[in-house]
Amino acid sequence: MKGWSGVYRNLIVSCAFALGLGTTGHQSGAAQEAVHHRSLSPEVRARETEQLMTDDERFEMIYSLMPVVFPTGQREPRVPEDVPQLAGWSKGVKRLGVPDLLQTDASLGIGNPSGARSGDTATALPSGLALGSTFNPALARQAGELLGVEARARGFNVLLGGGMNLVRDPRHGRNFEYISEDPWLSAVMAAESVIGTQSKGVLAMLKHVSLNSHQTNEFVLNAVIDPAAHRESDLLAFQIALERGNPASLMCAHNKVNGAYACGNDPILNGVIKQTFGFKGFVMSDWKAVYGWDFALKGLDMHSDAQLDAQEWFVGPLREAFATGEFPRERLSDMVQRILWGIYSVGADKSAGRPAPDMAAHHAAALETARQGIVLLKNDGALPLAPTLKRIAVIGGLANIGVMGGGGGSSQVIPPGGFALRIPLGGAGALAAARKETFIAPGPVRSLRKLLPDVEIVFDSGEYPANAATLARRVDAAIVFGNKFESEGFDQPDLTLPNGQDTLITAVAAANPNTIVVLQTGNPVTMPWREQANAIVEAWYPGQAGGQAIAEILTGTVNPSGRLPVTFPRNVEQTPRPKLAGFDTPPGTPTEIRYDEGSDTGYRWFAKTHAMPLYAFGYGLSYTTFSYSDFEVSGGDTVTASVTVTNTGARAGADVPQVYLTSVAGVGRLRLLGFERVTLAPGESRRITVVADPRLLARFDSRAAQWRIDPGVYQIAVGRSADETVMTAPASVTVRLFGK
Ligand code: BGC
Repeated sequence: MKGWSGVYRNLIVSCAFALGLGTTGHQSGAAQEAVHHRSLSPEVRARETEQLMTDDERFEMIYSLMPVVFPTGQREPRVPEDVPQLAGWSKGVKRLGVPDLLQTDASLGIGNPSGARSGDTATALPSGLALGSTFNPALARQAGELLGVEARARGFNVLLGGGMNLVRDPRHGRNFEYISEDPWLSAVMAAESVIGTQSKGVLAMLKHVSLNSHQTNEFVLNAVIDPAAHRESDLLAFQIALERGNPASLMCAHNKVNGAYACGNDPILNGVIKQTFGFKGFVMSDWKAVYGWDFALKGLDMHSDAQLDAQEWFVGPLREAFATGEFPRERLSDMVQRILWGIYSVGADKSAGRPAPDMAAHHAAALETARQGIVLLKNDGALPLAPTLKRIAVIGGLANIGVMGGGGGSSQVIPPGGFALRIPLGGAGALAAARKETFIAPGPVRSLRKLLPDVEIVFDSGEYPANAATLARRVDAAIVFGNKFESEGFDQPDLTLPNGQDTLITAVAAANPNTIVVLQTGNPVTMPWREQANAIVEAWYPGQAGGQAIAEILTGTVNPSGRLPVTFPRNVEQTPRPKLAGFDTPPGTPTEIRYDEGSDTGYRWFAKTHAMPLYAFGYGLSYTTFSYSDFEVSGGDTVTASVTVTNTGARAGADVPQVYLTSVAGVGRLRLLGFERVTLAPGESRRITVVADPRLLARFDSRAAQWRIDPGVYQIAVGRSADETVMTAPASVTVRLFGK
């Protein structure tokens, strides 16, 4: 770090003058440093440091490289040899104390691309939808902290987490990484993860701006949406998460939005994100998402893994444009200052050392998230498993081996001890090799045997429905698993369970009325056997402690409390686009997808079309019951709603009362305004209060470029889900236009 203190002294002096302090002449250099180290804002530090940089240093900071190039496997000579394989590396400025950025995936745990870092395993958290199902911001914060610590332990200082695209289609292969279909829920949870990660000195981000809601042909996909509706939905989610979480970075998406590539999208990056939202950090591209040096003019600040694109746009071509004056110096400075702002605002320049993670505590965090994220969808009395049961059959899903180990792609994590099983699925496209269905031990069979030592538990693979049905007939209860693997790079053609599992479940449920279905999916699925099943549990991809969490829920050791963060449709015809755009054309065929539903995503679409879903957003059962009373609503600049929640059952449990806007001036308009997760002992009550963000009550007015609160009565409800409101009360909200 030679030269740093000298530089700092320069900084201090110039800053002191800027602040009108002059120099004291009495304080030692060290004392001055201490004073100014505290007082300089990240903006000032970024500006001052950038001014001390050479153009070479500036240009080297604005692109990243993959240490081992994908897919050739060659070592990249520009990356220092001690940098292990990871998602991306970008150069700092040693003489100025600016660290290199070592970027790792992602939200579900620290990734290890293709297992290149031999033996390096990490805590495998439940999927993003499982986290979303907890409706518990404290768990999102905890996950962010855990990820920050495990990143730091490896010397990584950027977490490419924060996946929060809204779920717009239940066939999208990356939904499992994201949080929900609702802007408020997604934003609140994503912001907490960011805060958690950044509190550990690691830069966090939100991704992928914007409308990364389909994998099919995503590199040539043009997502078309009305700009006002975009502000009310996906961009609103990013906006709220930015305001609450203050991330160092944003990642722009692979796809196009309204005709322009997301990473070269001037109206969105420069217009909305930087100008309107006031985002101070840097926008980095997704991997293989840049198509020209001029993306720098359109708002992109860092070209990720430059080797992957047709040209290293921010290396040669951008310098040429700089030489000819087409690329202005001010913009180069701005790009660098934004990266420095990210580093300084998080303190990544000061986080030395590699703290050893407490892996037992991290396992406990994964377990608690799985417990709270599992959603009980149906229970006609089969659950919790009765103590009188003597023989139980567990069928299918490789439940004898493990739980589903997350989806495929960049978010995949190798858990401690490695995978119990990996099944290569192959397929076409660049990500086919990485498309492996994985399983993490212990499986639910082992965990159930542990919790039910006196019960005979027999496993059947489920390969042949007839065998499974024969076994099911001979037991007191049959637990049948339904697995569905999802992955980055692929969408699903429909909402069925693959490999004949729907037939299997139907056969088992016909053979034994006491059939419990446990789903491990990355998306909603249809359930042709729903009427015959006695109980249904959605466990998502439950992470490394998922076997235990599933067993605890089934046996009643843990009371289920998850709530659906996405609507489960009855069939694909109920969704905005029954036909998946681009699905039947060769890969690479330019594809347009029209999000004509605008901001009416998920439950809002169902409300608008008066369709009844299979299971609604916000829905989930418990082994106890809750009542709501004394619902009070007040208006003014926004809506404030309070309600008393009482546990009216016989056991402790957690509920998630949800406050919705249901109509404005007599016209239906459904929107989640807030929620709170409350844990209550039997008979216990708690009063909760939700204060709505006024943007959730407003429409975005494109002409005024402002939010507009319309006149009329606002009906506000407290509900158990988007389609089950319990009490409603009117509010009058101040009619106005407001900015941001
Ligand atoms: C994904 C990103 C990820 C990046 C780096 C891309 O394919 O879309 O989410 O962070 O790879 O691994």
